[in-house]
Amino acid sequence: MSQTVQLIIDNKTYELPVITGTEDEKAIDISKLRDLTGYVTLDIGYKNTGATKSAITFLDGEVGILKYRGYPIEQLAGQSSFLEVAYLLIYGALPSKDQIKDFQAKINHHTLIHEDMKKFFDGFPSNSHPMGQLTALISSLSAFYPESLNSVQSKEDVDLTIIKLLAKMTTIVSWIYKKSLGHPVIYPQNKYDYVTNYLHMTFGQRTEDVVIDPVVVDAMNVLLILHADHEQNCSTSTVRIVGSSEANLYSSVSAGISALWGPLHGGANQAVIEMLEKIKADGGDTDKWIAKAKDKNDPFRLMGFGHRVYKNFDPRAKIIKKACDDILEKLGIDDEVLEIAKRLEEVALKDPYFIERKLYPNVDFYSGIIYRALGFPTEMFTVLFALGRLPGWIAQWKEMKENKEPIGRPRQIYVGAVDQDYVDIEKR
Ligand code: CMC
Repeated sequence: MSQTVQLIIDNKTYELPVITGTEDEKAIDISKLRDLTGYVTLDIGYKNTGATKSAITFLDGEVGILKYRGYPIEQLAGQSSFLEVAYLLIYGALPSKDQIKDFQAKINHHTLIHEDMKKFFDGFPSNSHPMGQLTALISSLSAFYPESLNSVQSKEDVDLTIIKLLAKMTTIVSWIYKKSLGHPVIYPQNKYDYVTNYLHMTFGQRTEDVVIDPVVVDAMNVLLILHADHEQNCSTSTVRIVGSSEANLYSSVSAGISALWGPLHGGANQAVIEMLEKIKADGGDTDKWIAKAKDKNDPFRLMGFGHRVYKNFDPRAKIIKKACDDILEKLGIDDEVLEIAKRLEEVALKDPYFIERKLYPNVDFYSGIIYRALGFPTEMFTVLFALGRLPGWIAQWKEMKENKEPIGRPRQIYVGAVDQDYVDIEKR
């Protein structure tokens, strides 16, 4: 028998259906609430609102579980490649050997970007923030590849747009990096797999064939897999809501990139390294900075700590912390900020302020240290998060379309002025 809950308003009882997910998550379905009662719900920041039913990613923040399509993140990070995970997220199942070969071949076929787009790219100042460039370049793909604009796309057009976006993203991201150095861009080479091709365009040179260290390829695969999806976070919700107006995939993802940029979301990885550098320059007194983070009169927050949904630990942070130790050791790098990060974590995890508020290191706490060890400048970190999150955004946009979800349009509680009469400007 289907479960319901009772809501009593002004002595009248209403029955509301309960929806149960496959992992036994329960929700009260309030979609008819306003029609039935005249009331809406208020949940600023959507802390308690399910915006959709999704079959892509499950996470349990109380126990620290993250799964893509039912597969634990630990297994995927340990055993699969980023491209396999992208396929899994977007198409719903792990690919066979033939499917992944075909997927890679299709992507390789589209890695070049229109040369006219390069003229537009050349116009950005070389010191402009990579995220500003990325959001503009991804949105502008719709101008160069107009088949994406049909609001009711055929399945073939949707599939082609997905492949083009995955393919061109690596080229765009690596070119933004090259530009920051003032170096010439490197063109893609179809002999490489997805991640190696990206690293080739990033660290390769025009004059010689640079062999990418397999340690770096593996590290990149793990980092990208850990970022690949995270259910209805700020940027993904943005992608879904923009797409719900039937905006094309490129502009929907571009909006997601803008949402990711903020330091409370993906921008935290840049903010963490800047914070660690500041602590280092200040003498490395972690107790002082922990005290600042706890002081309500001080705007300083411990970046890379806390999460809206993880209240035990972030399983991605656990994997990243270990990967960070391994990679730095393999590359023979001794980074003082890693020691500061570990000291901060140790002190914070014993401190009642952080324990009571369930604040733990999140995915961004250690990822920046790895990116740095791999040779990326700080301002590129959030762009790398975007590269990893791309399959998740695509999968969520595709699911939203396939489920034929209505346009996203929340309500509000109006608290402004009531009935004012216009006063001529001369009389104000
Ligand atoms: N340092 C110090 N205090 C904190 C921190 C922090 N990093 N995070 C939360 N708090 C305190 C906050 O002041 C509040 O205290 P009180 O109850 O006394 O007012 C309490 O903990 C709850 O915080 P909140 O801001 O209400 O929680 P939220 O769910 O709205 O915010 C968050 C989550 C991630 C935005 C927040 O923890 C934060 O700002 N963290 C630092 C930024 C960061 O690392 N962001 C990356 C998130 S992971 C990557 C991603 O998926 O985006």
